[in-house]
Amino acid sequence: MLKTLIHDKKFEVYLTSMQIQQRLKEIAGKISKDFEEEHLVILGVLNGSFMVMADLSRYLTVQVSCEFLKISSYAGTESTGKVTSVFGLNLDLAGKSVLIVEDIVDTGLSMRYLLDELQKQNPKKISIMTLLFKKEAFRYNYNLDYVGFEIPNKFVVGYGLDYDGLGRNLPDIYQLCTS
Ligand code: IMP
Ligand code: MG
Repeated sequence: MLKTLIHDKKFEVYLTSMQIQQRLKEIAGKISKDFEEEHLVILGVLNGSFMVMADLSRYLTVQVSCEFLKISSYAGTESTGKVTSVFGLNLDLAGKSVLIVEDIVDTGLSMRYLLDELQKQNPKKISIMTLLFKKEAFRYNYNLDYVGFEIPNKFVVGYGLDYDGLGRNLPDIYQLCTS
């Protein structure tokens, strides 16, 4: 299925499931090396990261605890520019190495917010893994430790990412058609 219609919009395949899995294996290799001998807390940001978490975690060879929290800042195909809710911050991260796992970093606002919230718990270290990164849209200057793919500033769906609630279950990632 190279094209798909979601709600009122046409999307075309941008990254295939195979490309995604290949890249996740590479990144999992790096993470496993960087956290050798360590106990790592991987913290998935719901809803978008559920696919990345499920696949990435299976490629990791270090001991991990899988945790999730929920954050939301998006409506339709434009960022609303504010974080509307965060649930599940009652984790004990003091002294722990934490890897935040995201589907996408766009403006970077949600991640900035999360970093500030998580720092309050005095973790040993916070690292960031994001499958997709819209570099042109990024408005901050913190470091993203592991990036799957840098992508243009266009709306994408699939593999966890939604367009108004739909498309998350697609195994490939689709980009909004321009025509
Ligand atoms: P940011 O706060 O602007 O970096 O946006 C982060 C969140 O917005 C992500 O975790 C996604 O849930 C959502 N988002 C950003 N870009 C897209 C997109 O192209 N498609 C679907 N969701 C997106
Ligand atoms: Mg997300």
